[in-house]
Amino acid sequence: MQQLSIDIKNIFQTISPEKFETVLNELTECNRLLETGYGQGRDMLGWVNLPETTTQELIDQINSTAKKINDIADVIIVIGIGGSYLGAKAMVDALGENFSYLKPDYKQIIFAGQNISEDYISELIQATQNRRTALIAVSKSGNTLEPMLTFRILREEMQHRYGVEGARKRIFVLTDESKGSLREIVWKEGYESLSVPSNVGGRYSVLTSVGLLPAAVAGINIKELIEGAKAMRVRCSSNINKLENPALIYAAARSVLYREGKQIEILACCEPYLKMLTEWWKQLFGESEGKLGKGLYPSTVTYPSDLHAIGQYIQDGPRIMIETAIKVRQSRSTIEVKSEIENLDKLNYLANKSLSHISRNIFEAVSIAHTKGGVPNISIEIQRLDAHSIGELIYFMERACGISAYGLNVNPFDQPGVDVYKKCADSLLR
Ligand code: PA5
Repeated sequence: MQQLSIDIKNIFQTISPEKFETVLNELTECNRLLETGYGQGRDMLGWVNLPETTTQELIDQINSTAKKINDIADVIIVIGIGGSYLGAKAMVDALGENFSYLKPDYKQIIFAGQNISEDYISELIQATQNRRTALIAVSKSGNTLEPMLTFRILREEMQHRYGVEGARKRIFVLTDESKGSLREIVWKEGYESLSVPSNVGGRYSVLTSVGLLPAAVAGINIKELIEGAKAMRVRCSSNINKLENPALIYAAARSVLYREGKQIEILACCEPYLKMLTEWWKQLFGESEGKLGKGLYPSTVTYPSDLHAIGQYIQDGPRIMIETAIKVRQSRSTIEVKSEIENLDKLNYLANKSLSHISRNIFEAVSIAHTKGGVPNISIEIQRLDAHSIGELIYFMERACGISAYGLNVNPFDQPGVDVYKKCADSLLR
């Protein structure tokens, strides 16, 4: 099985190898800080060793809760926002099938709480009226307005549908072990719950029960996810040669380009399945780095669709961008283009080629074109969309983000800026 690889050769058309090496050396110390625990936000470093501290017992517990949920429900509503939503949705999408909802035994996983649209919530209630439903409420703090409000409304609906006792068997909670309003509700109502480790922050919690329970409900092999993360954890250790640590190389490549004046990082994928993973990445880097006036602005594109939307801007707009491409080596299925006698669409030149071959070449062409146009390109390649590769990719991104944020001398694990809107909303609503 081939592992995740990173290719940064294109950035050397913009910066010198010496400059890269200086930053790489500097960030090597930041990587070490993640392990020694002497950096900022040291009480939130639980995610660093999660791959090896996640016990078989916890995996079994999560799998058995997932089975219980699947036995009683066909529709599972997962309530959460930010780190309590994006990672779970990213894994469910990346490892699911695009059109599985057309299959007869499909378990519908619906995410809520990331909006408080009256129409979304009321249509959700209507649409699930006659379906066996379960709720998973996720909030580490247990106090976040949007998911807690959604939980209040949907919990009431569940009690209305199934009675208080019936609802109790259909509501599952993931929250801090001992703090927050959601934990108090669990104590009072007796809902089944799993705890979110207090030393793992929201956007680094995807490999805790926060991501693993929804993933297990979706039928994903969570043991393999953790194995993938574990393999990456070993490759990112501070005792590994810096030129062989993919997260350190990625962090150094984007950091040196930031120091050269680039302001935006675009994360590009060609797989619709990976769209949500890029959204998770956007939150990870945005909330971890964007503080004290620093940080690359993280933005995302999905190709080829965005080549015909924002591609012009990337190629010819202000030269303030870098691009990181996530590539998948092996597709799960194969479609080969056939030759046609009439060749009216003039596509016979692609005959006998697979769609993934064509897609890979288009993605490669985009990297060449963007690099020529002054948008330096980093390429990250995973083997295929399976649990092991996604586990690797998740840990790789988290580790690179921690290193890169330490390189900016900011605390990667707080989000003081988010509290500003919360306070404003609070004063408007009270
Ligand atoms: O990364 C973070 O810490 C945040 O994005 C949180 O995940 C988000 O605000 C949701 O918080 P909570 O899980 O406490 O409801």
